[in-house]
Amino acid sequence: MRLSYVLACSLALTAGAAAAGAADTVARPEKAEVCLACHGADGVSQTQGTPSLVGQPDRFIQWELVFFRSGRRHDPIMEPIASTLSDEDVRALGAYIASLPIPKVPVPPDSAPDETAGGAALVEQGHCAACHGEKFEGLQAAPRLAGQREEYLVKALKDFRSSGRPSMGLAAMNEVAAHMSDENIDAVAHFLARRR
Ligand code: HEC
Ligand code: HEC
Repeated sequence: MRLSYVLACSLALTAGAAAAGAADTVARPEKAEVCLACHGADGVSQTQGTPSLVGQPDRFIQWELVFFRSGRRHDPIMEPIASTLSDEDVRALGAYIASLPIPKVPVPPDSAPDETAGGAALVEQGHCAACHGEKFEGLQAAPRLAGQREEYLVKALKDFRSSGRPSMGLAAMNEVAAHMSDENIDAVAHFLARRR
C-alpha cells in the first residue's frame, strides 16, 4: 500500500515536471496574497521562523499544504490556513509559487567559514544532493534548500530528528536527521543558507 503510494507519487511527479516547462506565466490565485504577506512579497521571507517559498517545486508545496490540511504536519499557523484550501486552491498555489522568479539575493556575510566547510563535508557525506538536486535547488517532492533561511533549516532538521514532522514516503528525512548532532545541524544549515 505504502509502496504503491510512493510509486504513484513519482509517476505523477514525472508528468508534473513535463507540464511545468510548458507554461511561462501562471495566473496569480487570489489566495496567494495572504500567503506572500508572511512568506515575502517575492517569496523571499524576511521573517524569522517563516520559510522562503521562492524556488520550491510545485509538488513539494502541494504535498506540504495537504500535510498541514490533514494534520499530518503540525504548525499552529499553517494548519488553520491550509484547512481553508480546496484541492483546486492547493494546485493553483503550487503552480503559482513554483513559477515565481528566483531573485538574486546577496549571500549573507560568512561569520564562520569553518562551520561552512564543516557543513559542506556533512552534506557531501549525507548525499543530500542525490534527492535535493545538484545545487540543492529542489527536485520533485524534495524541497529547495539553497538560500533557505538558516534558522528555518535548523528547525526543520530538528523537527525531523524528533519525528515531530513525519517525512513523506519512505521516511528519508527522519532517518537522515536521526544521526545528526545539534552541531552538525547548525553547520549544515549554515552551509545551505549560503548556497545560491
Ligand atoms: C501568518 C503567517 C503565514 C501565512 C499567512 C501563511 N504562512 Fe505558510 N508558513 C508560515 C510559517 C511560520 C511556516 C513554518 C512552519 C513550521 O515551522 O513548520 C510556514 C510553512 C509553509 C510551508 C512549508 C514550507 C517548507 O519549506 O517547509 C508552505 C508550503 C507554506 N507555508 C505555504 C503557504 C501558503 C500557500 C499560504 C497561503 C495559503 C501560507 N503559507 C500562508 C507562516 C504563514
Ligand atoms: C532519500 C532522499 C533524501 C535525502 C538523501 C535527503 N533528503 Fe532532505 N528531504 C527529502 C524529502 C522528500 C523532503 C520533503 C519531506 C517532507 O516534508 O515530507 C526533504 C526535506 C528536507 C528539509 C526540509 C526543508 C523545508 O523547506 O521544509 C531539509 C532541511 C532537508 N530535507 C535537509 C536535508 C539534508 C541536510 C540532507 C543530507 C544530510 C538531506 N535532506 C537528505 C529527501 C531527502
